[in-house]
Amino acid sequence: MTNESQTDPAIDAKRRAAVWAASQIEDGMAVGLGSGSTSALVIEEVGRRVKEGLRITGIATSEASQKLALELKIPMSDFAHLPQLDLTIDGADEVQEGTLNLIKGHGGALLREKIVATASKKLLIAVDPRKMVKTLGAVFTLPVEIVPFGYETTVKRLRDLGFELELRVKDDGKPYVTDGQHYIVHCKLPQVGFNAEQAAKSLKQTLGVVEHGLFLGMASRVVIGGPEGIQVLEATK
Ligand code: A5P
Repeated sequence: MTNESQTDPAIDAKRRAAVWAASQIEDGMAVGLGSGSTSALVIEEVGRRVKEGLRITGIATSEASQKLALELKIPMSDFAHLPQLDLTIDGADEVQEGTLNLIKGHGGALLREKIVATASKKLLIAVDPRKMVKTLGAVFTLPVEIVPFGYETTVKRLRDLGFELELRVKDDGKPYVTDGQHYIVHCKLPQVGFNAEQAAKSLKQTLGVVEHGLFLGMASRVVIGGPEGIQVLEATK
């Protein structure tokens, strides 16, 4: 089971989205398994279907998802054996209405999530309605994964580019460390005049930045769970 509190008002919505997303997996598929609480619900549903006879092979986007998948006896592999995936199902922190552009990474897994999604023919995002926004950064900051060595200099470079940011720290005040042994900074995005493509390009060109949580033009579909059922949004491209 996940650690999700049963009193979370979004839990039913997340579960509806997760169950529908897992229903899109077909026998024989190679599947990317996302990270976060919605993805954990997807993995639970996949585990239930595997127990009933569904044959798939998975690649996880985090150590936590890998552990959960193995506990549920989902056959797991790696990119040495499975260079391309048919479908990845993941959650998101924000989904921009219309473009289906995403902010991801508040679970700390954006680098592996982007590697797995990029190796997939399709990326299906499962969310509850709170994740839908008109402008990226409306609710969440943008996580950016950076190299620990000389991170102070990377932070300065990003600030010089105009990013307003903070280093992610744990309760003990020490930097949060990702599965890939990197740090994360959270950037506050301007709500007027923000150009996601330009920001993505600037971040990628900045020395010390490993990857950022802007997933632009990557989602093929988004399933939104709600109190009555689900809604599926298709990418227009
Ligand atoms: C993980 O790094 C994130 O990209 C998650 O996909 C995101 O935080 C969604 O999490 P929930 O499903 O818990 O809202």
